[in-house]
Amino acid sequence: MTERTKPKKVCIVTGGGDAPGVNAAIRAFVHAAHRLSFEVVGARYGFEGLVKLDGLAPLGLEDVRGVLPKGGSFLGCSTQVNPFFVEDGGGVTHDAGPAIVDRLRSMGVEALVLIGGDGTMVAADRFMRLGMPTVGVPKTIDNDLADTEYTCGFDTAVQTATHAIDALHSTAEAHARVMIVEVMGRHAGAIALESGVAGGADVVLMPEVPYRIERVVAKIREREQLGRRFSIIVIAEGATPAGGVVETIEGARPGHLARLGGAGARLLHELEKKDLGHEIRLTVLGHLLRGGSPSAADRSLGTQVGAHAAELVHAGRFGRRVVVHGGDVTSIPLASEAKLHKKVDMRGPLARAARLVGIELGDEIVEPHSSTARSSSGIVR
Ligand code: F6P
Repeated sequence: MTERTKPKKVCIVTGGGDAPGVNAAIRAFVHAAHRLSFEVVGARYGFEGLVKLDGLAPLGLEDVRGVLPKGGSFLGCSTQVNPFFVEDGGGVTHDAGPAIVDRLRSMGVEALVLIGGDGTMVAADRFMRLGMPTVGVPKTIDNDLADTEYTCGFDTAVQTATHAIDALHSTAEAHARVMIVEVMGRHAGAIALESGVAGGADVVLMPEVPYRIERVVAKIREREQLGRRFSIIVIAEGATPAGGVVETIEGARPGHLARLGGAGARLLHELEKKDLGHEIRLTVLGHLLRGGSPSAADRSLGTQVGAHAAELVHAGRFGRRVVVHGGDVTSIPLASEAKLHKKVDMRGPLARAARLVGIELGDEIVEPHSSTARSSSGIVR
């Protein structure tokens, strides 16, 4: 099949974890495919369904009825299977990519649509290089995929985290406690910063800014002096103290990322040593951020990116991934791993606003052309 040929049968796969809005993307793709006259099959449990290939189910309009308000992915997901590093036991892996492509072809599948984050976009690029026409669709609550302003799931995750921060405010105040809220996001602080600003957190700690515990302590004491006897700290799971390493629950292995966790517990432990005169409590939001009914914004985004993927397939424009750029839904070529990860722009409007409303980000800003160190609240020390 040449790059511009229109395929008759396309397989859609959710790579990595679920995210609110994925169902809207699959639904839109299936609806658009119906109108553009090509068949869709879906892989059950993400890459696991591709590897086993008994996990492919035909998807028609009836299959996507009523899925818009549902969280998760109705097709199922797996974060434990990477088609290019299939684990055979004893630490041995094999690359199932070429065999998958052969078997997909033998089943009449002529193109793949992979919905996911940076790891899935790398997989999309590899399938394309193996000769399987592929399109990528952005999805991850972390919003850490390069070149796209938004990914499906981020808005809902931020909303869930913000509601949690709101709820913790009243009990923090009632007990005069310091509340630490750990949020997901892997090596990006987008969820932490966005929800911290929206929820009125006092401190936000992110992977982009290795933090100094003294800054956190100073902020809590400063609030105490102002008569505010409680504080809310939002910490991203990938945040580290200056000179420290990322806390993990399980290390990385070939083709699989490390599982992060413990950043909030480490901070709690460090703060407890500081004799703050407050009780400190930790809430780890974890997978709550991936669950729940998608926000209107994620349903709308899912619908747009899913429909656009179908347009690309119909036009035979493969080797591309859908992105949001300047508020528009468009596409760019698939790329290799090195270029795919996005972090929060610390000079961007949200980070600047956070500092200006007095949120402590845990660092010390050194002004350009000046040797004077400033605290993030702007006070020269
Ligand atoms: O990438 C989405 C994400 O939810 C991250 O924020 C988190 O670190 C990771 O997935 C958790 O993965 P799992 O569900 O496999 O533990």
